[in-house]
Amino acid sequence: MIITKKHESSAVNTFKNGSPVEFFSARGEYLFTKNKKKYLDLVCGSAVTNLGHSHKSHEKAINKVLKTGIFHTGTRLTNQFREELYFKLNSITPDYLNSFHLCNSGSEAVETAIKATQYYTKKKNIISFSGGYHGRTMGSLSLTHNKKLKDSFYTLKNVSFFPYPGTYKNKNTKFTEEECLNYAKTFFRNKKKPICAAIIECGQAVSGIILPNKKFFQEIFKIFKKNNILIIVDEIWNGFGRTGNFFSFQNFNLRPDLVCAGKAMSSSLPLSVVMGPSKILKTWPPGIHTSTFQGNPLSCAMASATIDEILKSKLINRANKINQILCDSLSKLNDLPSIFEVRTHGAGAGIEFVYPDGSANSEIVKIIEKQMLNRNIIVYAGGERGNVLMLIPPLIIKFNNLKNSLNVLIEEIYSLKKRKIIV
Ligand SMILES: Cc1ncc(COP(=O)(O)O)c(C=O)c1O
Repeated sequence: MIITKKHESSAVNTFKNGSPVEFFSARGEYLFTKNKKKYLDLVCGSAVTNLGHSHKSHEKAINKVLKTGIFHTGTRLTNQFREELYFKLNSITPDYLNSFHLCNSGSEAVETAIKATQYYTKKKNIISFSGGYHGRTMGSLSLTHNKKLKDSFYTLKNVSFFPYPGTYKNKNTKFTEEECLNYAKTFFRNKKKPICAAIIECGQAVSGIILPNKKFFQEIFKIFKKNNILIIVDEIWNGFGRTGNFFSFQNFNLRPDLVCAGKAMSSSLPLSVVMGPSKILKTWPPGIHTSTFQGNPLSCAMASATIDEILKSKLINRANKINQILCDSLSKLNDLPSIFEVRTHGAGAGIEFVYPDGSANSEIVKIIEKQMLNRNIIVYAGGERGNVLMLIPPLIIKFNNLKNSLNVLIEEIYSLKKRKIIV
């Protein structure tokens, strides 16, 4: 850790809150320090390790690749692991999403989707949403809403931001579904620019587990379709089981034109994908958009194993059961005035803290994060304004471990009330 601290770029989050715990091994829902102190992982490395750590199916997949000796072929050649993954992806997606473009990170998938829609429509302007998080590389950062992340950089200027229900309108009020739909209708009445696509999350995660109602999604899709705007759903956080379906757009019976996924797709190694119909993903010419490590064998094998495991162990049902536990346990917090809202989306929850005037209280979330770490439970601060305590357990977590950890969290929050730090 000393060497990391000395040499790592300070833009990385590692030392954001002082020195982090250093882990030496992991299994299931637990991470272990050098002297075997165990921590319950309720963040999954930002919604990645849905299968927990060192899952048996992953170990098998790695051994399979190890035996072949193929760790890289590049994209001009191929291998059985990429072949197998395409087969599996095709089996879990709706029939029309039958073409795939593999990438290495979520940001890269988002940029790939944008380029694909620009190429296909010959138009350049893009719509994104307030509170939207789509990554931090230059193109994806342009679609991310948070000004703090963007102000020091020259990002794309061809992005219009629509309001998203449940995100901040000003200091302490939030947009309603109706306001957001009216904004979109007015925008298209006055539209002047040729727009290639709109990118949307079916439930924002990084901004604090914000979940508009089904009617909003259905109406906004209708508005986009009526105006011939291609719709990209960003499933990088929500996809691969987290929200109680393979993909969150399936919860609302939607039909996006392109879907980006990443994170939990391999449940640990760098891999992402853009999924779409062949009419979009098979019209651009070879080499116009590619990268060296695209679809590397190890990540592909891990993703295939992840898909198999989601199906075999019915992890989507588990995500729904986890949602029930989160709702039941966390309902005890609803009476606290310092908590604006407890929100859940599938196997994820966000607890939003406010000051008495309704403005965001990020300080308290940092305190709770530390208290929980002292109790050997890893949670973290998130949300548009840093005032949401995020809970993102792995889908394999034992239900009793989850219940017990939520009891600890409630105890810690009530101890703050007793000490009059919150009301
Ligand atoms: C919805 C969403 N899109 C895109 C990204 C960017 O993915 P990556 O960090 O892999 O580039 C994230 C990461 O948190 C995300 O949650």
